[in-house]
Amino acid sequence: MNIPHRPRRNRRTPAIRGLVRETLLTPADFIYPLFLHDGPKDEPIVSMPGCQRWSLEGLVREATAAWEEGVSAVVLFPAIPESQKTPGAEESYHAEGLVPRAIRALKSTLPGLAVITDVALDPYNSHGHDGLVQFDPAGQPRILNDDTVAVLCRQALCHAAAGADIVSPSDMMDGRVGAIREALDGEGYEDVAILSYTAKYASAFYGPFRGALDSAPKAGDKKTYQMDPANSREALREAALDVDEGADMLMVKPAGPYLDIITRLSDAFDLPIAAYQVSGEYLMIKSAAAAGWIDEKAIVLETLTGIKRAGASMILTYFARQAARWLD
Ligand code: PBG
Repeated sequence: MNIPHRPRRNRRTPAIRGLVRETLLTPADFIYPLFLHDGPKDEPIVSMPGCQRWSLEGLVREATAAWEEGVSAVVLFPAIPESQKTPGAEESYHAEGLVPRAIRALKSTLPGLAVITDVALDPYNSHGHDGLVQFDPAGQPRILNDDTVAVLCRQALCHAAAGADIVSPSDMMDGRVGAIREALDGEGYEDVAILSYTAKYASAFYGPFRGALDSAPKAGDKKTYQMDPANSREALREAALDVDEGADMLMVKPAGPYLDIITRLSDAFDLPIAAYQVSGEYLMIKSAAAAGWIDEKAIVLETLTGIKRAGASMILTYFARQAARWLD
């Protein structure tokens, strides 16, 4: 018998398409990255149109508006004044620093909000690197892995003490997940989760973010710790280590150009996978939309759906609020 195949029958009406749809995007999938600074006013970020460096008050206002639109998780990125940056990044674990104050302000207004913090030294380090730096005789920076991990543990403890729900090491030092887990457990923070930047690539897509925080490395680049964009098997190795060291969630970053990595990790590991649609991905869409060249809403929802379809169960995206409104 020769039955004609007609896959279009399953696409015939919106109702049927709804029945067969495999991937459903919801605001509950989103983590909203928020920039903050220690000033009285919200400041627009030139390198990321539509984003602000929030004052503490503005931050709470923005998180509340997002919460009311269904976004229940934020991740915080502080802009630290040059005068507070040091080679030892001491401000990163200051109990009264900007991030701990922001965590407390958010938690007292929105106790149900999942507050995530970025654990890395680059906003606080006068060299602009994610780790502590020593210079070799030729003036080239060398990253001190194990000394950095000790500082990251202090930073994670400082965030946990202020009430962070999830700490998220974005530094790519070896061994930091296990060390942070041990430090947290040792101080009674067993409930604080670790979202590890497991496969964070040395990507040109971070440019606008570094502009937002003035955090670009002053010498050298990040290629001795962030991964080579050419590699995918290496991501499996990083993931196996993070799982072994006690990570609760694994992240792939950037998202759009690394969908294959998201799929490989979600196929190989049973921990939830996060993906970060980073500043350069955001800016490409924003600038093309501002020029009137693309349909912003359709493009954003398609990119986010693609990231989820690839295997991410949560997405860090600067479009979190806008997308939540569009999905409503
Ligand atoms: C730094 C950090 C970076 C981002 C998040 N955490 C930049 C970097 O590694 O240089 C980038 C996010 C983005 O581009 O949106 N620890």
